Amino acid sequence: MSSLPYIVGNWKMNGTRAMLAEARAIDRAASRFPGVQVALAPPFTLVHAMREAVQEIGVGGQDCHVQPGGAFTGDISAPILADAGADFTIVGHSERRALHGEGDALVRDKAEAAQAAGLSVILCVGETEAERDSGKAEAVVSGQLAGSLPRGDDAAVRLAVAYEPVWAIGTGRVPSVDDVGAMHRAIRAQLVAIYGDAGQGVRILYGGSVNAGNAAELLAADEVGGALVGGASLTAESFTAIIGAAALERD
Ligand code: PGA
Repeated sequence: MSSLPYIVGNWKMNGTRAMLAEARAIDRAASRFPGVQVALAPPFTLVHAMREAVQEIGVGGQDCHVQPGGAFTGDISAPILADAGADFTIVGHSERRALHGEGDALVRDKAEAAQAAGLSVILCVGETEAERDSGKAEAVVSGQLAGSLPRGDDAAVRLAVAYEPVWAIGTGRVPSVDDVGAMHRAIRAQLVAIYGDAGQGVRILYGGSVNAGNAAELLAADEVGGALVGGASLTAESFTAIIGAAALERD
C-alpha cells in the first residue's frame, strides 16, 4: 500500500461531458505533483469517458451494488464499474446512508463486492452533529467501522477509510485539527485491532468542507493520509490548490 497522500474528488451528482475539460486539467496538474496520488469519482456516466481522457489520476465510482449483475434496475455493479475503467469505488457515503437508508451490513457487502471485482474501496464513516454534541462521535464511528469494514484475506490491502463528519459536509464547517487527529488515531487503533499489522497501511482520509484554505492544516493532523473532497473538487483551480497543499505537507 502506497503511503503517498491520497486526494480524491467526489463529484457527487455533478458532471456532464463538458466537465471532462476540468478532469483533463486536474490530470495535467496531478502530473506536476508525483508525490500525491489523485483520483476523481464522477457520476457513473462519466467513468469510462474520464478514464479515456486522463492518464495520471485514478477514476472511480461513488457506490456499487452488492450483486455482480442481474435484475436490479437502475443499479451499477462493481464488475460493471471495473469494466468501465474504474480503479476504485466509494461506499457508505453519508448521503447514501441517510438518503438511501444504507446500513452498515449493506455497506460492508458493497465493500466486499467491490474488492472481489478488483476495485479498491474508500469506505466512509462519520457522526452527525447531534452525535458529536452528545459526546458519542467516537462510539458512532467505531460502530460504523465494526459493522461496515470489509473482512477476509487482504481486505486491508485495497482499502482507504474516509472520516467525514456529516455536519461538516457541504457546510463550510470543519472540526478542529485536534478533533480530527483524535478521531483518526481512534480509527487507526481499530484498523489495527481488526486487521493486525495490515491495518497500519490503510490510509485514513479526512472529508467535509476541505478547501484550498484549510487543506494544509487538516492534512497535517495526526494520521490524516489524504482528503475526500466534494465541492472543491469540481474545478481544476480549487482542486489543484488542495493537491498542491498535500504535496507541500509531504515535503
Ligand atoms: P464537501 O463534500 O467537500 O463538499 O463537504 C465532501 C464529501 O461529501 O465527500
